[in-house]
Amino acid sequence: MTAASPLLALTGCDDRPAPAERPTRRPTTSPQLAYEAGSEPGQLGPILLSQRTRPTPYTRPLPVPTPLRPVATTATEDVYELTARPGTVRILDDVDTPVWGYDGSFPGPLFESRRGRSVRVRLRNELPVPTVRHLHGGHTPQESDGYPLDYVLPHGAPHTGGKHHLHPGGRVHHGEFEYVYPLDQRAGLLWYHDHRMDFSGPQVWQGLVGLHVHRDDEESALGLPDGDHEIPLLLCDRSFGPDGQLLYPSLDPDLATTPGVLPDFANGVLGDTVLVNGVHAPFHEVRQGTYRLRIAVASNARHYRVGVDRLPASGEPFTMIGTDGGLMSRPMPVRSFVLAPAERVDVVLDLSRYPVGAKVRLQNLSGGTGTTDLVELRITGPDDRPAWRPPPRLSTIEDLDPAAAVRTRSFFFSKVPTANGPTFQISHHLFDPNRVAADPQQGDIEIWEFTTDQQHPVHVHNCHFQVLDDDGPLAWKDVVSLGINDRRRIITRFDSYRGRYLLHCHNLEHEDMGMMANYEIR
Ligand code: C2O
Ligand code: CU
Repeated sequence: MTAASPLLALTGCDDRPAPAERPTRRPTTSPQLAYEAGSEPGQLGPILLSQRTRPTPYTRPLPVPTPLRPVATTATEDVYELTARPGTVRILDDVDTPVWGYDGSFPGPLFESRRGRSVRVRLRNELPVPTVRHLHGGHTPQESDGYPLDYVLPHGAPHTGGKHHLHPGGRVHHGEFEYVYPLDQRAGLLWYHDHRMDFSGPQVWQGLVGLHVHRDDEESALGLPDGDHEIPLLLCDRSFGPDGQLLYPSLDPDLATTPGVLPDFANGVLGDTVLVNGVHAPFHEVRQGTYRLRIAVASNARHYRVGVDRLPASGEPFTMIGTDGGLMSRPMPVRSFVLAPAERVDVVLDLSRYPVGAKVRLQNLSGGTGTTDLVELRITGPDDRPAWRPPPRLSTIEDLDPAAAVRTRSFFFSKVPTANGPTFQISHHLFDPNRVAADPQQGDIEIWEFTTDQQHPVHVHNCHFQVLDDDGPLAWKDVVSLGINDRRRIITRFDSYRGRYLLHCHNLEHEDMGMMANYEIR
């Protein structure tokens, strides 16, 4: 790779703008936008400041999504239609915010599935840009996994992608595509999002995210709080421009050719306003009972420490029961928990330890102004259901033995400055679709060692793993969060589909600036 043209090295294409022609600080199509950076204690990078007042906390109700209805069902499959399209949502008090959303909404519709039935999603693209849909946490055949080059081009767009640079080598779909998800996997909270090559950061920021709850019999047998006692919570941070639009500091405001963000934000774009299910600091009325909170972080780069503003009279506020890959082996009482981008957690909150009338606030304990308040739970009366008490064991999880690993592979995640600005690399390589960084045999157990220079939440597609050297309950994860100069080891058995999949940093700005690699299950 030559330092002069790091982005060209991605695929050897030469039709990107030369460095000298790159847009500078003011985006060309919206010259009125300026990006101001602020700071927030505990965050490594600058915060993108909104130019509009955020709503007063706890003035709007929490939207609780209901599952999308299939358009058809067969004995073994549910079929859904989904359109990625522009829409508007009301996030701020006095103005609408334009978004790109699944079915025009942000977040997109909730999917619910059950092991034993597959899901088919007919995605139609009515956006002005190519898109790719990835079901995060899914064990999915590669044609449907949402590889970044497997573009779904805008409906009616020229087959060449028009002004949008298409990296060659993918399966290109024109206007729509049917993703098939067998979902032959254990229960868990999955989520889906855009995964377009070079532009996942801005396109997710613009609204292309949604939750997917997957269930199975093992989990159902536990009798966990359900119905209105099971609450999915999607956390993300955003910033707003002068007209209420979502602000994002893209180098290329058309999202056509040049990936990346203004240098100030290269370590990751951090918004100054946290949204929960698309609303800033909502309230929610609950009973004095046990609730199951299923929390997913859809932030581009922000990490959270979630806790409560008042501890219960006895015990810890939360009982953690699950992570990215579903139930853990046993429950674990916790006072707070840390979530990196793309991580999920399943916790039970026992509100019977608070009086009727109490307001219990879920907070981001590592947040600042606008990023601390998550949701206020208002206990309106006694519960009419029996409390759920965690059993000593939740789930049977195989304890993968490091001695059974056939090999150990190492991956170093680092920021590499070049004359044109920073890039992000894995083991000194920018993402190259033609390069395979690891090729495990199907069925093999391997240990992968990740090391870092700075914070990187590392995600592996089509696979769940266990984090070694961790003393908590056994758990299946698909993201492992690494800190500065950190080292973590994961172990997995590659027993899902054969084919070419990704491993990457889930800080979406790092991902867009090169921090991805192929691995292939052979
Ligand atoms: Cu959340 Cu490559 O994915
Ligand atoms: Cu990273």
